[in-house]
Amino acid sequence: MTDTIINPNRALWEKGDFTRLAATMRDSGDALIATLDVGPGMDVLDLGCGDGTTALPSARRGARVLGVDIASNLVAAGIRRAREAGLDNLHFQQGDASSLDDLSDGRFDLVVSMFGAMFAPRPFDTAREMVRVTRSGGRIVMGNWIPGDPTLVARILQICAAYTPPPPEGFVSPISWGLEDQVNERFGAAGIGRENIACERATYTFRYAGPSSAFLSVFRDYYGPTMNAFDAADKDGRRDDLQAELEKLFASENRGGADSTEIPATYLKVTVRV
Ligand SMILES: C[S@@+](CC[C@H](N)C(=O)[O-])C[C@H]1O[C@@H](n2cnc3c(N)ncnc32)[C@H](O)[C@@H]1O
Repeated sequence: MTDTIINPNRALWEKGDFTRLAATMRDSGDALIATLDVGPGMDVLDLGCGDGTTALPSARRGARVLGVDIASNLVAAGIRRAREAGLDNLHFQQGDASSLDDLSDGRFDLVVSMFGAMFAPRPFDTAREMVRVTRSGGRIVMGNWIPGDPTLVARILQICAAYTPPPPEGFVSPISWGLEDQVNERFGAAGIGRENIACERATYTFRYAGPSSAFLSVFRDYYGPTMNAFDAADKDGRRDDLQAELEKLFASENRGGADSTEIPATYLKVTVRV
């Protein structure tokens, strides 16, 4: 039995091709890193890095950057992008955010995880590992989608959940990382006092050169959670219902024109001082 079969978390992200979506998030990734004072002499860990939307801008600013992701195809894509950009201060490796065994304590000045570590299965372990690998005086910055939020990604996850069979018992929803109480509890259990945890709402904007219906096709064909929902809806004869619900959502959230897509999505930005 391969690891892909026994690890559904990894299988979910290797199923599609997140690079297709990542390409629509580059501006926001770059803008976020511009606010974090990343520069030469810093060691940065990008956790759940995908193909490097925030890792590349960090490396371009001169930091030594390690991107860790559970999906082998995305690690390979990150390595390719770093090579093409000529960034020899940027490395990628496969790993699980909830168990960073080969990374030593206090190794990083900054741990960034935009919509990455939130998807790891054991949130308390994940918080503990993020804190462990951050040096005293360093920072963790996480971006997490918010349950019940009316903007794009939270709504996609909510709609898709309604078409997907219930998760196994004991499964903790990734989107619970978007609740401040949960964030405080998880980092609190990792030894961080409430005064060192700040949560605020922030925005990521998706930009796609085509109509919102075509952008929806990218989610449908390449984003693991949406692909799973369409597979399940197919089996139940509900594919058209899911497609119609999502088309309505994408059209109503689009701030671009008829032939272009620009969709802002709200997330919880968590900053932890270690
Ligand atoms: C929504 S994507 C975000 C990727 C990237 N941070 C970005 O902003 O483009 C979620 C990423 O988290 C990764 N991921 C999911 N579970 C993980 C885990 N347990 N450990 C490490 N990475 C994980 C996925 O493979 C995927 O690349």
